Amino acid sequence: MKRIFGRDLAIDLGTANTLIYEKGVGILLNEPSMVALKEVKGKRTPVAFGAEAKTMLGKTPEGVEVIRPVRTGVIADFEVASLMVRHFISKVRATWWSISKPRVMVGVPCGITEVEKRAIREALDGQAREVRLIDEAMAAAIGCDLPVTEPVGSLVVDIGGGTTDIAIISMKDMIWSTSLRQGGDALDEAILNYMRRRHHVLIGEGTAEQIKKSIGTAHSDYDHESMEVRGRSLIHGTPIALMVSGREVREAMSEVIGSIVLAIRQTLENTPPELAGDIIHRGLSLAGGGALVRGLGKRLSEELQLEVSIPADPLGVVAEGAGKCLDHSDIFEGVWLR
Ligand SMILES: Nc1ncnc2c1ncn2[C@@H]1O[C@H](COP(=O)(O)OP(=O)(O)OP(=O)(O)O)[C@@H](O)[C@H]1O
Ligand SMILES: [Mg+2]
Repeated sequence: MKRIFGRDLAIDLGTANTLIYEKGVGILLNEPSMVALKEVKGKRTPVAFGAEAKTMLGKTPEGVEVIRPVRTGVIADFEVASLMVRHFISKVRATWWSISKPRVMVGVPCGITEVEKRAIREALDGQAREVRLIDEAMAAAIGCDLPVTEPVGSLVVDIGGGTTDIAIISMKDMIWSTSLRQGGDALDEAILNYMRRRHHVLIGEGTAEQIKKSIGTAHSDYDHESMEVRGRSLIHGTPIALMVSGREVREAMSEVIGSIVLAIRQTLENTPPELAGDIIHRGLSLAGGGALVRGLGKRLSEELQLEVSIPADPLGVVAEGAGKCLDHSDIFEGVWLR
């Protein structure tokens, strides 16, 4: 009966990916946060969402464009974000039969403004019976099974597409948190710029991401791979293919990785001594897609002198954690934002 009268959902509305978790069930949807739109007589109509829209990136005919409505973790294009959320929720709800609308828990980056919070609530207008917001870093920590309800300091670093959230949590509270407006997208951009500067080759965003995922590393121990990259020569204007090495990609990404390391270091410096002791003992949990950059765990571990653990599915922990709050609302009561 409870299921018929409404199901609760947790949503990770990310810069790169949107995930939806259903209470008591698990992750039901995981799609790129993208919408392909066609402009007809000045009006934009969606032609594809999510994974389908991503396949069109950089390849759309005139009049069609692929939009990423979430930037650096917050809604950048309200109209398109609403369409996307609506579409994803209806896709999940199509598999149910229920009378009432779901209650929804949404992850938000730390330091989000009231205006940005309102945009999220309004994007869900009509889709949800009740909207609750939770700090993504808190959700990530819960998703990583860290003891957030106990008087123990836990350090979590969530490197997403648009943001890197760093937080120290103890007793359901964020003791310290900071959000860096740099993540996986900044790494892609750094690779794209490197190719232009060093090789005079123009590559697309998708290619840059592919290079990062295939041979990108943050540590010299993982440098040995290389791959063929195709782009357009800026000198001849013609298509060109060239070999790029892991070492080059590490060099290209080093500045962004350096700022992430620095932000974590600053967080550690701001940690009250008792909690710092816990963190030295328990280490750091790395979440988000950025955790998959090869050698990043080792790099952080060496530079910060901390043990680094990476969950089995770093891309899913925010949705898993927010979902767990729904599953065990008695235990996690109060971790969401008021
Ligand atoms: N195997 C991989 N190696 C390196 N980077 C990866 C890998 N897989 C995914 N990524 C990167 O992770 C990022 C997406 O991560 P994630 O889904 O956690 O972000 P998000 O939650 O959508 O963004 P945000 O939290 O900033 O709003 C992208 O930049 C993507 O390129
Ligand atoms: Mg995220």
